[in-house]
Amino acid sequence: MTSVLILNGPNLNLLGTRQPEVYGRTTLADVEASCAAHAEKLGLDVVCTQSNHEGALIDAIHAAKGVHGGLVINAGAYTHTSIALMDAVASVELPAVEVHLSNIHAREEFRHVSYLSKVAVGQICGFGAQSYLMALDALAHRFTIS
Ligand code: DQA
Repeated sequence: MTSVLILNGPNLNLLGTRQPEVYGRTTLADVEASCAAHAEKLGLDVVCTQSNHEGALIDAIHAAKGVHGGLVINAGAYTHTSIALMDAVASVELPAVEVHLSNIHAREEFRHVSYLSKVAVGQICGFGAQSYLMALDALAHRFTIS
């Protein structure tokens, strides 16, 4: 069964209590549980990881090569700053879908820039926790056509 790594970056461990007016009241555990349930319906395995540390996220991306068939990444604020994360995704040559709970394009200008978008197969943002499920749908579709 194809496996997908779901990677969450800084501050996403606080989902549910962190600025609920922006990110909603769904916790990271809830997000991960709905991803696992949705993946099962799609015939995919998922592994979920979260870190507040850029290097740990890079290590997780490197370790995904040869283990997972694709990546779903919400890099949090590193989306807008990290060339190193972008390079890591490019290096492993796995299809990566960038996700965000909020619509980053409707927010502050510094959030409009995404280094990850340059190497991701696509970006899904603005649908809250549903963004992750849409990313899994996109990867499942991609696996069937490739
Ligand atoms: C986020 C958007 C980022 O701009 C922000 O820094 C986050 C969360 C989102 O899921 O909407 O931490 O990635």
